[in-house]
Amino acid sequence: MHQKNIALYIHWPWCKHKCPYCDFNSHVQNNPEEETYKNLLIKELKYNSKNVSNYILTSVFFGGGTPSLMSEKTLNQIIETIFSEFQISEDIEITLEANPTSSEAEKFAHFTRSGINRFSIGVQSLESADLKFLGREHNLKEALNAVEMALKKTPNVNLDLIYGLPGQNINKWEQNLQHLLDIGTTHLSAYQLTVEPNTQLYKSVIKGNVEELNPDIQFDFYQSTCQILENNGYNQYEVSNFSKPQYECKHNLHIWQYKPYIGIGAGAHGRLFIDDKIIATNTYKMPKTYIEKTSENRNGYFREKPLSMKEITEECIMMSLRLKEGIDKEHLDTLTKRNWRKYINNKALERLKLLNFVKETPKRILLTTEGQQVLDGILAEILEL
Ligand SMILES: C[S@@+](CC[C@H](N)C(=O)[O-])C[C@H]1O[C@@H](n2cnc3c(N)ncnc32)[C@H](O)[C@@H]1O
Ligand code: SF4
Repeated sequence: MHQKNIALYIHWPWCKHKCPYCDFNSHVQNNPEEETYKNLLIKELKYNSKNVSNYILTSVFFGGGTPSLMSEKTLNQIIETIFSEFQISEDIEITLEANPTSSEAEKFAHFTRSGINRFSIGVQSLESADLKFLGREHNLKEALNAVEMALKKTPNVNLDLIYGLPGQNINKWEQNLQHLLDIGTTHLSAYQLTVEPNTQLYKSVIKGNVEELNPDIQFDFYQSTCQILENNGYNQYEVSNFSKPQYECKHNLHIWQYKPYIGIGAGAHGRLFIDDKIIATNTYKMPKTYIEKTSENRNGYFREKPLSMKEITEECIMMSLRLKEGIDKEHLDTLTKRNWRKYINNKALERLKLLNFVKETPKRILLTTEGQQVLDGILAEILEL
């Protein structure tokens, strides 16, 4: 039987504290129902594994929220269930998102004993003033200590950074970036600060208490980040993601390449390729509802919707164009039975090629450096959004 690869995302919805810029599905709750939640994740794992028995699991990503708050025992039981329920790839990647407070960094050794072989650490910044602005619970010393502790366990470590904060100094940002690269991290995700509606930060901007950085300065930060990382041997394989060769995040790459994945835990989404269909799954978002409904039902899904060819085309193009390698035309042909050109504006595509924003090769469609800077506009034109 032909074996295909599948990825697994597991959401941990709780944090110690809500950061003012964050609109992720993360909630502050004293004594969350960890044991009940773990049992429901195990129930979802057992349910899902039956549907994907012809797949090999190549990656697991524990995201949040703050999954590093989970106890070692909980993590261990979840990973044991994964190994007993799924066919596992020999070089499976298992990532855990971690906040760099000292209590969480102390658990890294236990987490690696349970099977974690990649850490993604929310360093965000090396400036105390930025950490304060971002409402983070860790300080500079803790951030550096957490990175060191993780690197002692595995070279497969990502650091999340946020740039473009109000009043941020570009020279300091460049120095800090260099400092983190010198420590030896193999992967870096550098995000431009986004003011998301429904956040404290958004309210502060609306009230005029915080002034957003202007887009030109934001762009200077982006360009300087790309330049420094390139000079240091990091490949920008996605708009915000950079890695040393062979250290790309397998899990995220798989998702951006529009390949099947299971999403479990509160508010997770998945794309299951079953028979000839792609099924979009969503679980209940609020932890309390997720716990209630998943206890009553056979899984945590409140929606399992087969996607239309148009939706598949749009999703695949939106995800893949973020990647340096771009869209794999053969993959899109297979997914849409060679119909995808029917769902895009082909004239717009040709025009964008002439304008040197987009490049087409026999196998791929990808953005040029100029195109990367106007990704949203390109998607809007090609997909007529
Ligand atoms: C799921 S979140 C973080 C996980 C972990 N709890 C933490 O905070 O370190 C993943 C990353 O998205 C980035 N992020 C979240 N909200 C953002 C925003 N409004 N603007 C830019 N980056 C953001 C942060 O770098 C964050 O580490
Ligand atoms: S940024 Fe991370 S720690 Fe802060 S609230 Fe969001 S998920 Fe939680």
